[in-house]
Amino acid sequence: MAYQICINPDCSHQYEIGQVLHSCPVCGELLDVDYEWDSLPVPDSLCHFDRYRSESVNSVRRSSGVWRFHELLPFLPLERSVSIGEGRTILQDARYIASFVGVDAGRLFLQYEGLNPSGSFKDNGMSAALTHGAFVGAKKAACASTGNTSASLAIYAATTRLIEAVVFVGSGKIAYGKLSQALDYGAKTIQIQGDFDDALIRVRQIAKDHNIYLVNSVNPFRLEGQKTIMFRVIEELDWNVPDWIVVPGGNLGNAASFGKAFIELHKLNLIKKIPRIAIINASGSNTLHQLYNKNNDNKNERGLRWNGGHYDKDLIKNFYDKMTSESRKAHTIASAIEINRPANLSKALRTLEFCNGVVSEVTDQEIMDAKARVGACGFGCEPASAASVAGTKKLVEEGVINKEELVVCILTGHQLKDPNATVAYHGNDQNQFNNTLGKFNITSAKFANKPISVPNDPDEIAKFL
Ligand code: F0G
Repeated sequence: MAYQICINPDCSHQYEIGQVLHSCPVCGELLDVDYEWDSLPVPDSLCHFDRYRSESVNSVRRSSGVWRFHELLPFLPLERSVSIGEGRTILQDARYIASFVGVDAGRLFLQYEGLNPSGSFKDNGMSAALTHGAFVGAKKAACASTGNTSASLAIYAATTRLIEAVVFVGSGKIAYGKLSQALDYGAKTIQIQGDFDDALIRVRQIAKDHNIYLVNSVNPFRLEGQKTIMFRVIEELDWNVPDWIVVPGGNLGNAASFGKAFIELHKLNLIKKIPRIAIINASGSNTLHQLYNKNNDNKNERGLRWNGGHYDKDLIKNFYDKMTSESRKAHTIASAIEINRPANLSKALRTLEFCNGVVSEVTDQEIMDAKARVGACGFGCEPASAASVAGTKKLVEEGVINKEELVVCILTGHQLKDPNATVAYHGNDQNQFNNTLGKFNITSAKFANKPISVPNDPDEIAKFL
């Protein structure tokens, strides 16, 4: 009923769900989890899922915003689901942010994935990956991470006691909120010299050599869980599909899983409309933007496209070779998305094709200013998340997004994940935060709310009230 399948249309090899794979053993392409939908109890309308919120049918349905949608990711029976209460997130009608980005009031929504147990969207995928991990009898799980995947794996390991967590992070490349989580939750934390890309290559090899279960987004089961972010967005919109989904792009797992969610909903006749997707890179870490929007000597005279699965692999190889020969490395204040070679690139291209998508990039300045607006108007978010809001503003200014269109920005991580970036932006001391700020100069912070230093004297204090 459920199986794994290579996404390369010229290969399409299938594998059982009991196999632990991170790419197709035949051709090396990424794998999907797929289903024989005809033999499964698929609801005939999305309203079917309303009952799981109001009735106490089954506790995991009620308490998990992932497993509430079990019929749409039924790779194992519901009873086997691993859950720590993930996916209880909210969609906020963000009127102040609407005016900041330039769309009409009531047309801009923020999906706060930072409200997950570990403070980021990763928990959606982790619950699904570890459901599969437990099924195959894994005792140890590992990931490479810019911080949130590691925090998520660590919290699941500590809470469920099903597996031991081993996390690999690049040295000096991880925000303190996230590192503190991995350490506090007791994960074995391995800091290696190098960046996220180096850590991912290393952990893939180590997972294979030592039979450790890998939970990075090359694990197709993890992406099944992340589909539910889209289900919850449209659930909150009374099962209406927005015009745009705007998401930050790092390793492109979200982009991959959101596209898969809409491909399946459409195939199952559960939605008629397909939203457009905008994937936003940080300009200091913009591989997808470069490949998608620049010519890069492509024979077809446009950027890289999925092209029904026949995308130009040489274009990618040449781009990466040049990156290496020029010693170019990603660098952005949005450390969560500081990634050179996104592992889900091909799946993101598929999403862009299906959702008539666009790719854009925003500067660290635009990211941090947008983050400050989000913070001042709501629950806040970490820098990478604000790329979605900054990207929306840019796309509205460019006329790509129309001000009457309904836009949902995905805020991927919690405000407290990266306190250094926030304090640096609002503060007065560039030097203290040199490592975090990089090239971003705090004198250009448009929305800084600077702390005021005063003597401990009521009259002096009164002057500032
Ligand atoms: N936003 C946040 C807060 C993230 O932590 C990440 C990825 C992304 C966006 C990008 O998402 O990879 O699906 O495109 N963080 C990973 C990690 C890489 O290790 O925590 P993506």
